[in-house]
Amino acid sequence: MRGRSLRGALALLVACGAIGTMSVAESAEPKPRWVLVLHGGAGSIPGDSPDDIRNGYENGIRQAMDVGVRLLEEGRPAVDVVAEVVVSLEDSPIFNAGKGSVFTAAGGHELDACIMDGSTMGSGAVAGVKRLKNPIRAARLVMDNTRHLLLAGDGADEFAIAAGCDEVDQSYFFTSRRFHALNRYLRENNQPPLKSPAYALPKGVTIEPDFADKPGNTVGCVALDVHGNLAAATSTGGLNGKMYGRVGDTPIVGAGTYANKFCAASGTGIGEQFMRHTACTKVAWLVEQGQSTQDAVEHCLTKVLNPGDGGIIAIDANGRVTAQSTTGSMPHAIADSSGRRDIGIWMEK
Ligand code: GLY
Repeated sequence: MRGRSLRGALALLVACGAIGTMSVAESAEPKPRWVLVLHGGAGSIPGDSPDDIRNGYENGIRQAMDVGVRLLEEGRPAVDVVAEVVVSLEDSPIFNAGKGSVFTAAGGHELDACIMDGSTMGSGAVAGVKRLKNPIRAARLVMDNTRHLLLAGDGADEFAIAAGCDEVDQSYFFTSRRFHALNRYLRENNQPPLKSPAYALPKGVTIEPDFADKPGNTVGCVALDVHGNLAAATSTGGLNGKMYGRVGDTPIVGAGTYANKFCAASGTGIGEQFMRHTACTKVAWLVEQGQSTQDAVEHCLTKVLNPGDGGIIAIDANGRVTAQSTTGSMPHAIADSSGRRDIGIWMEK
């Protein structure tokens, strides 16, 4: 782990625009049997964050990585693995997905998720769901059990609950840190802060004192399995203070999530930008044309998207991986069958 002062300096350099992209990338030789990359959202976690914040991110990432490593070692298909890794991230209050989802401006929660199997081009997604503990499970069911690709709103909730997904009340998604983050956003945008969420708090739950926290953005996973197949999954609570009804890039195939036989990619950041530039498709296309995942993602983040728009993880069919962000931080992990187990929050150039 790098020294905290160095991390702070790196974060400052990024904030000042002195470093365009911070990344980790490596091509393992020989090609590993399986490879896993996951992220817990591009953001701007201060380099001098207290240990409990740093440990929270690292522990959440490690737990999810361990889930993926176990399944890949068992020989499970990449599409199963990315779903289960994302479930683990959705169940953590730390990340902006599932349990830890941010608030809409109206004081509620609307979640998006998408999964894609690069071996079949099968894909499923849900948008604006409000009652599902794990939206990525619903996305998987859309892929497996319907002739559609994307279900939204009440129809998506009802389909998934009828198919056996865990149903929760909106209050399940309550966290004090996200509520304060919403009110900070509202104040900064000259809107009155909310006194309470749009729903009743669960019995015994109170709004705890504020601590300055900038919610990260989205979780995702890409994997290459022992059968040579690629898959991607992404899940999010969306943007803090987003309009009621807004849908981001995460459930839009090709924007925030994409996988084919050449490449799998998962994005995190300002969804409108990822949609307008079909960011993850662009990465996969550049890889198909012969670029490394490192170069393809760097091109997309620095030449296509704007500095500070977000981050992307990607993996190709040879197991070459990259995790890059232009926002200063992006909790992430890279693991492979050779024993690699790398976890980080801030990235090196
Ligand atoms: N990238 C997540 C969102 O914009 O909703």
